[in-house]
Amino acid sequence: MEKQLIEESSKYLMSTYGRMPIVMRKGRGMKVWSSDGKEYIDFLAGIAVNCLGHCHPKVVIALQKQAQRLLHVSNLYHIEPQIELAKILVNNSFADKAFFCNSGTEAVEGAIKLARKYASDHASTEKFEIITATGSFHGRTFASLSATGQDKLKEGFEPLVPGFKHIPFNDIDALEKAITINTCAVILEPIQGEGGIKIPSDNYLKQVRELCDKNETLLILDEIQTGIGRTGTLFAYEHFGIEPDIITLAKGLGSGAAIGAILARDSVAASFKPGTHGSTFGGNPLACAAGLATIETLLEDGFLIDNCNRMGKYFIERLEKLKNDFPDSIVEARGKGLMLGLELTKEGGKVVELCAKRGMLINCTAGNVLRFTPPLIITEQEIDILIVALKDIFKNESF
Ligand SMILES: Cc1ncc(COP(=O)(O)O)c(C=O)c1O
Repeated sequence: MEKQLIEESSKYLMSTYGRMPIVMRKGRGMKVWSSDGKEYIDFLAGIAVNCLGHCHPKVVIALQKQAQRLLHVSNLYHIEPQIELAKILVNNSFADKAFFCNSGTEAVEGAIKLARKYASDHASTEKFEIITATGSFHGRTFASLSATGQDKLKEGFEPLVPGFKHIPFNDIDALEKAITINTCAVILEPIQGEGGIKIPSDNYLKQVRELCDKNETLLILDEIQTGIGRTGTLFAYEHFGIEPDIITLAKGLGSGAAIGAILARDSVAASFKPGTHGSTFGGNPLACAAGLATIETLLEDGFLIDNCNRMGKYFIERLEKLKNDFPDSIVEARGKGLMLGLELTKEGGKVVELCAKRGMLINCTAGNVLRFTPPLIITEQEIDILIVALKDIFKNESF
């Protein structure tokens, strides 16, 4: 049965993904089950999507209720869950206004449009340059791909959108040299995710903020992976003592329902006027109901964010111990909250496969960084199970 499904998957779907030979059928909390009944503990959570765990009852009930009430209505009208979701996001962030779309890449596209429109409203159409970091990932559509700092993802798709400059991440001198009065925005991930869980030095984002202010440049933080409690605060910018002008969100926001968002200050958001930007499905009732249930649950009693901090600390301590035990295989353990990476001395793809064989889902990014972004409900017992499996792999397997 599973074999046939995998054959049909290859036959009928474009081969854009390097998929593992597993067909996923069901998820609850920390666990997912494949169509042949095998159980997996999920340390990846859809790559930082299922923050509350799989099929959290509050999200499922919110979706069921909303599906019975109203599935879709156009943005020509006001939409109740969209208003409620915007309100809770604004009341818990630096921002004054929200715009909803359907994915991360769309949120980045929209943020880029907003920054260019703001610059053309307040300065001139010459002020269109955007600076981003090498190693960054901002999405797969044209402007977000142009912003992305990984050449291999762009091959064959040129020409890209003009006006993007790339500088090394965490290098303030490089930004100082690159930024000019014609820079309309700097876009950075507060912690690079796809680039290999790279954390900037404590002062970096503060200095970026200062350079942006000096050059009247907007600071856009791409919080698509770091947002929604992932790093131990609702948004990662809170760790760095700064406020951005715009953030982009997606992934964890809908607990699996497809939703993206742009949050911005009033003064910036004002450059989007009726007709300047929009989306048929953006802010649809179903996705917003899931988003609202997610944020309400996350903020309800502080338990989940607190657990993220406690488990993140426990997890990284265990990874550091692993590094000390296997210095030939492991370079470094790093991360914040439950966005963690283990840099290996070699490619990590085989370790991912060996973990899956043992019933654990992780992934590998930047070639040699094992990535762990589990649901924020994770317990010490589950972390221990993974550490035992990794120990066994580093000790007994060749990869
Ligand atoms: C930081 C960041 N930005 C943008 C994206 C693109 O999001 P999506 O895949 O929803 O388009 C991702 C996805 O991994 C991401 O991690």
